Amino acid sequence: MSTLTESPAWLALAAHHAQIKNQPIASFFERDPQRFTEFSRQFGTILLDFSKQPLDETAIACLFALARQQKLQDWIRRMFSGDRINTTENRAALHIALRADTPVYLDGVDVVPEVNAVLQQMAGFVAAIQDHTHRGYSGLPIADVVNIGIGGSDLGPVMVTEALKPYCLPQLKVHFVSNIDGAQLDNILRNLNPATTLFIIASKTFTTQETLTNAHSARTWFLQNGGDEAAVARHFVAVSTNIAAVQQFGIAAENMFTFWDWVGGRYSLWSAIGLPIALAIGMDNFRALLAGARDMDQHFLNTALEDNLPVLLGLIGIWQINFCQATSQVILPYDQSLHRFSAYLQQLGMESLGKRVTRDGDAVDYSTGVIVWGEPGTNGQHAFYQLLHQGTQVFNADFLAPCNSQHPLHHHHTMLLANFFAQTEALMRGKDAQTVRVELEAEGIPQQLIEQLLPHRVFPGNQGTTSILFNKLDPATLGALVALYEHKVFVQSVIWNINPFDQWGVELGKQLANTILSELTNDRSPAEHDASTSGLMHYFREQRAR
Ligand code: F6P
Repeated sequence: MSTLTESPAWLALAAHHAQIKNQPIASFFERDPQRFTEFSRQFGTILLDFSKQPLDETAIACLFALARQQKLQDWIRRMFSGDRINTTENRAALHIALRADTPVYLDGVDVVPEVNAVLQQMAGFVAAIQDHTHRGYSGLPIADVVNIGIGGSDLGPVMVTEALKPYCLPQLKVHFVSNIDGAQLDNILRNLNPATTLFIIASKTFTTQETLTNAHSARTWFLQNGGDEAAVARHFVAVSTNIAAVQQFGIAAENMFTFWDWVGGRYSLWSAIGLPIALAIGMDNFRALLAGARDMDQHFLNTALEDNLPVLLGLIGIWQINFCQATSQVILPYDQSLHRFSAYLQQLGMESLGKRVTRDGDAVDYSTGVIVWGEPGTNGQHAFYQLLHQGTQVFNADFLAPCNSQHPLHHHHTMLLANFFAQTEALMRGKDAQTVRVELEAEGIPQQLIEQLLPHRVFPGNQGTTSILFNKLDPATLGALVALYEHKVFVQSVIWNINPFDQWGVELGKQLANTILSELTNDRSPAEHDASTSGLMHYFREQRAR
């Protein structure tokens, strides 16, 4: 047994869970008419309602005791003060500095001036594209921006530009290419004019195979369709921490936007990786996004655990995963513009928390990160909610929605929210056999058929959900929501004593892909592969068109 699962706070939680696990969530509401008020918190316009979670006052108190036992507040302070808490890479995790307006120190040096200098550089570039001082090689203004990046160098910018569509400036279209599958790049390039296209090559390391391959192909397309070497500088910029590799690719240092090794890829949308966002929504809106995140940072740093939204969200997840045995976290935004939000949170959660050893390298004997998935409502309702209502999997669900839409079809929004509220209520209440029986009898269904149908029509309910409502999905609110989830992930990592800032698990596949690529391209005989891998490679070689 590990020190965590043998610790007093953990044992208290396990004992309390055993006591209350058979109490329906609905019964908590019957006993306590104030439950909604007591089990919800607000920060700015963000309301976090966890009253429909399967826990009571004692469970919450035990979770706070666990957080204190794991020294959560110390860890928060350590992150904010630039400690090298990413120990396997010997790096700080200072994404909070990217949106700070007061000094943040790393090794005694305030990094905020450097951050501001890059923001200034971004602002200058965005202005030059917008006011057409920066034009393409033929003198035409830039009309299309193609961001080439993957993982953290793609998902954040994609998610935010989609979410903030109402704020996007109409004269510039921003496209994203991430996959090594050439279909994605080809589909985008075939509609573009090189003379009016700007490419952003976004890669923290500037060594990522997908990004560099797509970047080289884009450059070839540019040169073959009217651009020349001299024009590359006007049409290709890079965002990276690796100046040497950027220069080797052929992008001059002055066309590069830098960031730092203390920014993890999945925490980087606030840095120059956010350049496509700033181009899409304008620099003022980008700064509003940062300001929203900064407000959440300050809330996380300075608010008591009991009223701290990221802490609460993280601890509810701990309760669900480690005590209720949830194996997945569903993200259900009732807002179509958040249609990439769950994909974004998938990388944030699964790359950060998909760890099986503690910070000290000991194997854990408790669950850590779970599968993160989801789709916007109401589409999800017609796809996978059946499993949520009547399947056998244990999951935790976050429902999110703005109270106000940014489109003029207000009656749609009311219907959308009616579905949100109905689903969370239905997941909690379910429908018991007696209610089903009465309904079927009222429909005049014969008794024998009722008995047959009954088990299929019963909903067990008692499924915990967290509801997050906010006024409107403006840049500041989105910034705060993303920071809320970033810090939630950090809270869980502290409880589990794992490092959420490395991602060694991605490396093995990358290494093997390179070996196999050289075998496929050189038609060399496969090295030591298993029979399945060799067989697949052999079949591919035979089948592919020459
Ligand atoms: O998928 C692994 C990963 O290292 C992510 O953490 C990162 O966001 C992505 O690859 C892209 O990396 P880079 O920005 O260095 O190209």
